[in-house]
Amino acid sequence: MSSSFPDIFISDIDTERFGVVTARVIGITAESLSAILDFCFARKVKLLIARCNMSDLDAAQSMEKKGFLLMDTLVYYSLDLARQDIPAEKGVVHVRPIRGEEGKEMISVARESFHGYVGHYHADSRLDKNKCDEAYADWARKTFASRDSDNFLVGEINQQIVGFGVLRINSPDEGEMFLGGIHPDFQGQGIYHSFLCKAVNWCLSKKVKKMIISTQLKNISVQKVLIKFGFEISRGYYTYHRWFD
Ligand SMILES: CC(C)(COP(=O)(O)OP(=O)(O)OC[C@H]1O[C@@H](n2cnc3c(N)ncnc32)[C@H](O)[C@@H]1OP(=O)(O)O)[C@@H](O)C(=O)NCCC(=O)NCCS
Repeated sequence: MSSSFPDIFISDIDTERFGVVTARVIGITAESLSAILDFCFARKVKLLIARCNMSDLDAAQSMEKKGFLLMDTLVYYSLDLARQDIPAEKGVVHVRPIRGEEGKEMISVARESFHGYVGHYHADSRLDKNKCDEAYADWARKTFASRDSDNFLVGEINQQIVGFGVLRINSPDEGEMFLGGIHPDFQGQGIYHSFLCKAVNWCLSKKVKKMIISTQLKNISVQKVLIKFGFEISRGYYTYHRWFD
């Protein structure tokens, strides 16, 4: 396989969660499609989760002809940290690094905030909805277990955790808040804005030049906040599922 061939791998996490052999590939193209399908047949894959660049309609239409179903569109937003006018805190919530004893409470917030989420898992009628909800809580649990001293943020109001956000450095130039949510009882109060303020300061402290966040095109709420904050859309991917039975 050439170096430009997209990486395809068996996803142990998805396989275990959903009880079917699941593979994942990002950057699938019309040219690589048949080799990707061969891999799936050879490895007895039951579910393939495949992402193609949103500008690559050739890939999207080739997949559709082979029975792939569109599940979501993942969009990336980017904020240039060299800008001078980073918005000010609104002060509705105290955002700070999580404490070791707060894992259980945070996981419960993660489960509630992603209940019935708009992502590709929930869009697939063949996947158990409870297991889809659990995917995000599980992701939060795993990132909590492997957190650094300051990259896992929680928001606190009256000694209650109302939201969380997890940060990482992707490259010397780029930071990302790759997972985050606000408990449904506290949504619509501008709390996520405070997470963005804290996340931007974290990124600035790590000397990266930009901060990125990805979300689903259907997630209007978070995109409103991102755009008002100054983020700009940068790229996107269609997420397809292909079942092999
Ligand atoms: C999306 C989310 C992070 C936004 O955080 P938030 O603190 O509620 O953001 P805001 O209070 O600034 O609300 C943003 C916009 O969404 C709307 N909104 C927020 N929660 C809403 C809800 N539950 N139902 C309908 N609209 C809602 C707000 O009215 C606001 O729109 P407006 O500017 O027209 O008034 C939060 O709702 C959430 O955690 N959702 C579930 C998980 C998720 O989407 N995580 C982010 C993945 S990238």
